Amino acid sequence: MPDAPELPPNEWWRTAVIYQIYPRSFADSDGDGVGDLRGATGRLEHVRDLGAAAVWLSPIYRSPMADFGYDIADHSDVDPLFGTLDDADALIARAHEIGLKVLLDFVPNHTSDRHPWFAESRSSTDNPKRSWYVWRPGDRPPNGWIAAFGDQVPAWTRDPTTDEWYLHSFLPQQPDLNWDEPAVEAAMHAVLRFWLRRGVDGFRIDVAHAIGKDPDLRDNEPGRSHKEDWPSVHPRLAGIRRVLEEFDGDRVAVGEVYLLDQHRLAPYVTTGDELHLAHNFVFLNLPWSSERFRDVVDEFEELTRDGGWPAWCLNNHDHSRTATRYGWARARVAAMLVLTLRGTPFLFQGEELGLTDVPIGPQRIVDVDGRDPERAPIPWEPPSEAGPGAGFSTGEPWLPVHPDAEHLAVSVQAQDTGSTLTFYRELLRLRAATPALHSGTYRPVTAPPDVYAFMREHEGRRVLVALNFAPFARPLPAEAAGGRLLLLSTHADPGEGELAADEGRIIKLGDG
Ligand code: NOJ
Repeated sequence: MPDAPELPPNEWWRTAVIYQIYPRSFADSDGDGVGDLRGATGRLEHVRDLGAAAVWLSPIYRSPMADFGYDIADHSDVDPLFGTLDDADALIARAHEIGLKVLLDFVPNHTSDRHPWFAESRSSTDNPKRSWYVWRPGDRPPNGWIAAFGDQVPAWTRDPTTDEWYLHSFLPQQPDLNWDEPAVEAAMHAVLRFWLRRGVDGFRIDVAHAIGKDPDLRDNEPGRSHKEDWPSVHPRLAGIRRVLEEFDGDRVAVGEVYLLDQHRLAPYVTTGDELHLAHNFVFLNLPWSSERFRDVVDEFEELTRDGGWPAWCLNNHDHSRTATRYGWARARVAAMLVLTLRGTPFLFQGEELGLTDVPIGPQRIVDVDGRDPERAPIPWEPPSEAGPGAGFSTGEPWLPVHPDAEHLAVSVQAQDTGSTLTFYRELLRLRAATPALHSGTYRPVTAPPDVYAFMREHEGRRVLVALNFAPFARPLPAEAAGGRLLLLSTHADPGEGELAADEGRIIKLGDG
């Protein structure tokens, strides 16, 4: 495969590492057991010290919290659980003061059923806001579309007020907005402007691919969903991009485009006038295999070689954590991968601590979709010093803290040169200091079985990344022979020759 073109890192988000804060679980300032904006503001230095360039905050808006903020009742206010608009302004100001950008979550596909728009829409069939949501009459659901949550739950609920069905791709408390209605698009653009004027640097766009649906509401076909990724989605995302471009300062649109077929994902970032970035979720569903990882990366490199910047991730608030999926050693190898590939890596709070999912007792389960374990609070200090809330909260945390918070706490790991936190800090520091790693070309290299190796190159300086997916030692790729300097290993004590079991290495080649 020929080298991918070298893209100049002229926009901040290309060289950035972006860190997701899940506000409920990051830091609690008022002792109610739920994280909040003041708490998060007080802990931003952790993100800066890690070496990330930006934070993305999961939703902070007024919400009944049926889906923990992804059900918005007022886009222009902060939920009292998280604080106030002033607290949001203070967070943005503090982040900027210490050199961090701030992305908010923008949720265009649906609102809460308690949003005043929906209250109006459901009130009568001739209400002016009726067309803002998707309504159909009939004895049965208009089609066979299934909601994302629950076991084969229809994506339609009949509302008793008018005896018609409304569409909800997620919970019944999350009615889908009708983007075929121009007034909806205009209203959502106004939401973007509200926050852009307050200084946010961009948005992560929730289910971005769902704001274009088959207007005829036809049933899905094998391999083709009619309720997302419809051609109309593209001009709508371009419209969002144009709103961002009304403002100076390289504001960025990052789509949550949950399409595992990379041929369908690529067009969201290759045209140059839609999303700047779209999360690529392929890794989240792959078996631990060097061939499989290499194949998907090579495919996406090929698909984006004429433009398009990848956005890799391994974790977020919707998925089991890598340390649970792969185990601690392999989670480091995986982190080395996403932080050295061409593209913008997204980290989820706590992965830099090697957090595993936290078992939730049956009496404590709160999420509708089994996502509590990856949302457990951040342990900032060991419970022996800070009490059972581990520095996250002085009250009872809304989800249990990690049972090994004593050793996993940030303050403990910061003092330990062999900790996962120290490893992540070194990895991000190396990435920032090495143009080949953040801006160079990508080329896969021939490697022994179980080893995935690739070259990153910038202005003649070459860096080789070699990742051993096997639980036993493997030779280094032949191209490593000219390696002059080991820049970083996932292992505290790497050997000279072979890659150890579950080891990843970054090696500087040549004289560069
Ligand atoms: C994706 C978000 O990441 C998830 O947490 C949420 O439940 C759905 N979108 C619906 O908004």
